[in-house]
Amino acid sequence: MKHLLKLLDLTGEEIIDIIGLADQLKYEQKHGIAHRHLNGKTLGMIFSKASTRTRVSFETGMYQLGGHALFLSSSELQIGRGEPVEDTARVLSRYLDGIMIRTFGQDEAENLAKHGSIPVINGLTDFSHPCQVLADLMTVREYKKKFDGLKLTFIGDGNNMANSLIVGGLKVGMSVSVAIPKDFLPHQDVLQFAATYGDKFTLTDSPEKAADGADILVTDVWASMGQESEAEKRRKAFDGYQINEKILSAANSGVMIQHCLPAHKGEEITADVFESHANEIFDEAENRLHAQKAVMVKLMS
Ligand code: CP
Ligand code: NVA
Repeated sequence: MKHLLKLLDLTGEEIIDIIGLADQLKYEQKHGIAHRHLNGKTLGMIFSKASTRTRVSFETGMYQLGGHALFLSSSELQIGRGEPVEDTARVLSRYLDGIMIRTFGQDEAENLAKHGSIPVINGLTDFSHPCQVLADLMTVREYKKKFDGLKLTFIGDGNNMANSLIVGGLKVGMSVSVAIPKDFLPHQDVLQFAATYGDKFTLTDSPEKAADGADILVTDVWASMGQESEAEKRRKAFDGYQINEKILSAANSGVMIQHCLPAHKGEEITADVFESHANEIFDEAENRLHAQKAVMVKLMS
């Protein structure tokens, strides 16, 4: 593994290996055991979109590993004034040991990796959010102690989170069921990949059907970053695609809830359901730190 651009590029074994290292780094962090695997190394973090979790967890994680992280707003880089990605990649490769990028097009992250000579980590594109789903899978295993035999259900928009959850969930051995309105389907490449898993994957427009027997219920905002102008239209289109008491009652008892955050309570999830599963959701947020540290150790040490 040279980069983390999307989970489609990783094997199930590689994903489980990252989660294993993340568990170990979490243990070491909680017990004050030093793990300075990236002593003296520098990560550049390019952001073209807002962030709380990704920015803070990468910067803190790099510090805990003995390295240093640089926040680079794309609007203040020359890339924001039109300097080509391929030149930016070659320049940054001379200074840094790794790059994290949060941007719009998946092709921008892929191009950075193609033209640079250092590892590139996707910190969210319109297509995928692999760091988030590694943290989600880590959290699932913490709570459920296994992947085999579990059913993960995603309800909502066929966005970057849906794309990554489908791929990650199937690769580690879970069944994945998604309830998504037909005008908002996941990416074609993801649906093609999922089709190779036969009846371990189901796509429906019925949230109740998808949630039936679920062990993990996941949702995300209806309007992602960059889609703010469509928010009203999307609120109408996703009416009924909410995680609420009715959906919970279709799931297995002991179902856990995951949400990458930020959440729009009252839209994709009710405030009551969110608060009664807050432990799982904030453990998930914490695990961004540990999972990304594992990714950086794998790629940069
Ligand atoms: N979940 C997530 O990526 O959060 P941020 O947008 O705050 O980084
Ligand atoms: N789908 C959301 C995830 C935010 C972490 C977005 O892209 O805005």
